[in-house]
Amino acid sequence: MNQVPMLDLCTEYQYMKQDIDAALQRCLAHQKWIFGPEIEAFEKAVAAYLSVSDCVAVSSGTEALVLSLRALAIERKGTEYFTGDDEIITTPFTFTATGDAILRSGATPVFVDIDPRTYNIDTGRIRDYLSSPQGKARVAGIIPVHLYGQPADMDAIGQIAAEHDLFVVEDVAQAFGATWKTGKLGSLGTTGAFSFFPSKNLGSFGDAGMIATNEKNLAALLRMLIKHGGRDKYNVDHIGYNGRMDTLQAAVLLAKLRYIDEFNAGRERVAAFYTKELSDIEGLFLPVRPDERTADAAGMPHVFHQYTIRTASRDALQAYLTEEGISSMVYYPVPLHNMAVFKGRMQCYGTLSHAEQAAQEVLSLPVGPLQREEDSFFVAQRVKRFFGR
Ligand SMILES: Cc1ncc(COP(=O)(O)O)c(C=O)c1O
Repeated sequence: MNQVPMLDLCTEYQYMKQDIDAALQRCLAHQKWIFGPEIEAFEKAVAAYLSVSDCVAVSSGTEALVLSLRALAIERKGTEYFTGDDEIITTPFTFTATGDAILRSGATPVFVDIDPRTYNIDTGRIRDYLSSPQGKARVAGIIPVHLYGQPADMDAIGQIAAEHDLFVVEDVAQAFGATWKTGKLGSLGTTGAFSFFPSKNLGSFGDAGMIATNEKNLAALLRMLIKHGGRDKYNVDHIGYNGRMDTLQAAVLLAKLRYIDEFNAGRERVAAFYTKELSDIEGLFLPVRPDERTADAAGMPHVFHQYTIRTASRDALQAYLTEEGISSMVYYPVPLHNMAVFKGRMQCYGTLSHAEQAAQEVLSLPVGPLQREEDSFFVAQRVKRFFGR
């Protein structure tokens, strides 16, 4: 039976094998596993790609978020951690790490609902909360998540942040290479926190992450925090981490970076095919077409980390696709505000009903940079068949 996987890392590796193997061989030869030359080379390459002044290579996307927040607490408040009275606004419809990073920084997450069309944070709700006395007094920053590879509304978020003097930590874990109008995602906030988890558009051979920023002082602080908080080994000023990226991961990522635009274009091609095949099916909602949102966008406004559809008959559709040999995934079945870890540690602003409904209805279909046309055709055909087409 035909099997269509969600992820095909073996095929991707074969495509880039020469470059990756050569990079690994260089590491074996020099044996500089910690802060080897590939770290700085990768940081510089990503900084140039994003047009930012600094990139700091770190151990994971989660740590990129935590480190960003810790550095901001030190820089803006003069304290090692935020306190529970400091609030950070984010979306409940994301991976746990986004909210968990806020808790680990000492602050309180404030969850506001999403825009049901894009699944990204509803900026109107952010404005509403900030016009309340509590919001005005307590909010220190915003973490927009560019979910599935699609930008949150960075115009509105930038404007709100400027009006209220808030920091913005972009969670760019799912959107490496995506653009919002003229800027690459991750370059628009105070910091951008990237994940290179193996399944991401740019994936390492293990855990790795990166922080992008245009603020030199933040970059300097981050470089201290990833090395146990010290200016050097024995002059330690801050509560730090062993938060650096391994040389080996930087070597792999540097080799793969050359392919990222080509790979994102490959994802976009699959997405365009699905959208062409699946439009006009009653009860089936497709991702918002990128050009509907940012007609003036340069580059790729959606890098389709996931191609996510929604339908009230999600579970039945998923069961049918599984029977047909087609993998699919639900990102995310449980919004953060319904997880035990956030109980008593969060604020929920208003109803979060769009996030809750999305959690019941979304389904991500296979989308890969090198996905075979016949596989995309098979997936689209089976989805249509489920809906009686
Ligand atoms: C939206 C989002 N934020 C944060 C993370 C955390 O990244 P990592 O797994 O590299 O720690 C991920 C991915 O895993 C993610 O999808």
